This record gives sequence, C-alpha cells and structure tokens, in this order.
Amino acid sequence: MAVTQQEHIAISTEDAILRIRFNRPDKKNAITRDMYTAMADAIAASNTDKSIRVILIEGSEGCFTSGNDLKDFMNAPTTGDGSPVGRFLAEASTAEKPLVAAVTGIAVGIGTTMLLHCDLAYASEQAKFHMPFVNLGLVPEFGSSLILPSLIGQRRAAELLMLGKPFGPGTALELGLINAIHEDAEVIDAAIDAARALAAQPPSALRQTKKLMKRGFLNGIAEQIREEGDHFATCLTGPEATEAFQAFMEKRKPDFSKFD
Ligand code: COA
Repeated sequence: MAVTQQEHIAISTEDAILRIRFNRPDKKNAITRDMYTAMADAIAASNTDKSIRVILIEGSEGCFTSGNDLKDFMNAPTTGDGSPVGRFLAEASTAEKPLVAAVTGIAVGIGTTMLLHCDLAYASEQAKFHMPFVNLGLVPEFGSSLILPSLIGQRRAAELLMLGKPFGPGTALELGLINAIHEDAEVIDAAIDAARALAAQPPSALRQTKKLMKRGFLNGIAEQIREEGDHFATCLTGPEATEAFQAFMEKRKPDFSKFD
C-alpha cells in the first residue's frame, strides 16, 4: 500500500485492520500538516486495498488528540480542498471502509468532530471532549455545524459549539457520539474487538451498508464542509483567531473585549 510514512502517525495493518495511531504525545498529539497528509493518504489507499476491511483511528496512551496544531494554523493558514487538512476531511468523510475510533483521552477540535464520521467510537473513562472553535475565533469544521444539531438538537449543539463547553465520556455516550466507555487500559482492545467483528462481516455487504447509511447526507455534508471551510479560512487570519492563538502560545487568557 502506497502510504506516506510520518514519524508522528504510526500506520500498520493487522488482521485486515488499518491502524492509524497518533504518535506525538509531547504535543498532546496536535495534528500537523504532515500528519493530515499521512492520514489522508492511508485512508485514500484503503479504498482500493482489498486486504483492508476496517480502519481504526486510535490515540496514544492517555491522549487522543488536542486537534489541529495551533502553530501550523498561525504559520500556514491554508485549509482549502487540496490542503493537507482539506484532503483529510474529504477522505475521512467519504471513506469506503468502516471507521472505528479509540478515544484514549483528550479529544479537542477535530479530535471530537472526526467522531461524527466514524461508524463506531469507543472512549476511555479519562476521555474529555471539547470543540472550542468559537473560543478560538473560528467556526466549526468537518460538517459538525450540520451533523451535530441534527444528531443532538439545536440547544445542546449550541452548548458545545457556541459556548464551547467541554464534556466527559458520560455525556458523549448519552449524546450518541460514542458507543461505549471502557477503562483506560482497555479502550484500544475494545475498539480492536469491534474492528475485528466488522472485518469478519461479509465485506461487500458491509461497504454497501455504510454507503446506504450515508447516502442521504453525503452531498449536504460535503457542501457544509466547503461552506465551513470558506468561513474558517477567513477567520484563521482574522484578529479574533490571531489573539486566541497568541494567547495560547503565551499561556495567557485571550482578550476579545476590543472586537466588535
Ligand atoms: N497545537 C500546538 N501545540 C499544542 C496543542 C495544539 N493544538 N495542544 C497542546 N500543544 C502543546 C503545548 O503548547 C505544550 O507544548 P510545550 O510543552 O512546548 O509548552 C504541549 O503540547 C503540552 O500541552 P499542555 O497545554 O502543557 O498540556 P495540558 O495537559 O495542560 O493541556 C490541552 C492539554 C489539550 C487541554 C491544551 O494543550 C490545549 O488546550 N491545547 C489546545 C487545544 C486546541 O485549542 N486545539 C485546536 C482546536 S481547533
């Protein structure tokens, strides 16, 4: 399989399962452009690789991902269709093989929104979910501004997307963002068990079922991802995001009082 290898993303194939593992623990698995490229390449290649039946996206010990690398956002604010993140959004949201997630800890930004594109998701007891897009002067991405309100209702989606409220695995389970909660040491094994069970299913029927389940929403999601992307790109270089990113780097609270 032609896949870009990348030191911060560990990619392996085992028992028909393509395992994509975040491996940048010192930066809380913040996702860089190279990491997006490696993941996008791996998912794209899996579509035509008959030896792969399921894709598993997993965190490292105690951490899923802290989302997009904020330094990358500041230094290379490109998020359009052909960009590394744009390619990942497109490949993950249209992947032909089922996607399973093992949320081993903190899941910020795209760490949470990617779960909306996974077919099955399992979280550890220490998992913490957060979509602080507005808090960072940004807008939601990955179709989350469309999928979340339709999945959990406008009111609760506003709490998570507009107030940027963090939440734990119990809430994630109740909202239907994950399938189950497991002890920290067991979540990856639980996700592997689910991936193995999917891999043992008749592959063509499984792929077609995934396609049928998404058929009614796919065009709307692709369009929403594009629309969000346009606003996101404008926000990224705007004064609110600049203040938020600067504040993060300087380890201080952002001050949005001067903006209107
Ligand atoms: N981008 C770039 N670097 C990040 C990062 C990110 N998204 N998340 C964490 N890091 C870095 C920190 O800057 C720090 O680097 P340093 O050791 O060189 O100072 C290191 O990872 C450890 O993070 P730290 O903040 O010390 O860990 P913590 O356990 O106290 O907090 C988080 C973890 C995830 C809550 C916190 O790092 C955070 O809020 N990160 C930003 C998340 C975010 O806004 N993502 C974008 C969403 S769109």
